[in-house]
Amino acid sequence: MTDVAIIGFGVVGSGAYDTIRDGRTPLRVKKILDLAVRPGMEDVMTTDYEEILRDPSIVTVAESIGGLHPAKEFVLAALKAGKNVVTANKLLMSTCYRELMETAAQNGVCIRFTPSAGGGIPWLSSLRRTARAGKINKIEGILNGTTNFILDKMDREQGDFDAVLKEAQDLGYAEKDPSSDIDGLDVRYKVALSCNVATGLTANPDEIPAYGIRYIRSCDFVWMKERGLTCKLLGNYRLREDGSVALFVQPTFLPADSLFASVQKNFNLVKLTGDRVGDLAFYGQGAGKNPTGFALVQDMLDLLQADAAGEYVFRPAQVNNTDTCFRYYLRTPDGVVTVTEPISVFAMGETMQSMPQGTFVAAIQE
Ligand code: HSE
Repeated sequence: MTDVAIIGFGVVGSGAYDTIRDGRTPLRVKKILDLAVRPGMEDVMTTDYEEILRDPSIVTVAESIGGLHPAKEFVLAALKAGKNVVTANKLLMSTCYRELMETAAQNGVCIRFTPSAGGGIPWLSSLRRTARAGKINKIEGILNGTTNFILDKMDREQGDFDAVLKEAQDLGYAEKDPSSDIDGLDVRYKVALSCNVATGLTANPDEIPAYGIRYIRSCDFVWMKERGLTCKLLGNYRLREDGSVALFVQPTFLPADSLFASVQKNFNLVKLTGDRVGDLAFYGQGAGKNPTGFALVQDMLDLLQADAAGEYVFRPAQVNNTDTCFRYYLRTPDGVVTVTEPISVFAMGETMQSMPQGTFVAAIQE
């Protein structure tokens, strides 16, 4: 048996715990850290992180606290104590990528973050495998379960935005602050991490333009339906010939019979195009206790066989969105719809600055 610890016993941490307790893995949860010890769990729970750091039998720490602080300090302390770390924390991983990866390498341990993009889908681990023997030219995907749940319900059942968001929160899909989901920031972190894993570069999430679905309303679905379209929030990565990358997040109108359009509920679908392997697609539940907890356990298991952290190149990714073009749908808060000629993602960002607050924008993919 290999001893592990879980820090943060919320949705994801308890999902990982339940998976390990099923007894199908050679893992044992020796300690769980949280703010309070739950009745009946006194033997395994603690409020003292030092107990975990000082325990030489604990080889891996699963971080499921979420947010930047104190998660970052806890992760750094685990790495410096010679423990591997697995995490579902996309905010932490994408904003502190270089520091965390370097600290792991310096301490001869590993940090894995597969559940931080795609929930239960082995997306980042498969991307990593694909990228080690080929070039990744394109990634396009539905990478947020909450917004897919909302868009799906608004499309199929004419659901009301706020009511459907509440349902997604109750099901444990949404972030503590769901603005991150509906404003596209969550997908921005996942696109940055996908770029890092695909290229070995380090993308700054703040440089990735992101439009969300906060302002989408039922009138937009009426417009789409008349034209045989539906809307999905897509994260995008494209490798350019000069080695820079196009990275962006935007609601996208797609033919209602396309592959992405068929993705329902909290499911995610992400596609890569590799120079040798061609197209690969990965589909599954992108959010929720069991899928994400399961993926955290999969990373722990991978670490049992993994070598210590390898070599990393931390060159900053140059983001260039000037030649990736779409026609855009713009609907102002007072209901005026404009469809643009094909313009670049970069030019759209400039256009948006002159649009009224509350304008909904989506790319049209034909
Ligand atoms: N809030 C995220 C989502 C959780 O809805 O996809 C999984 O990253």
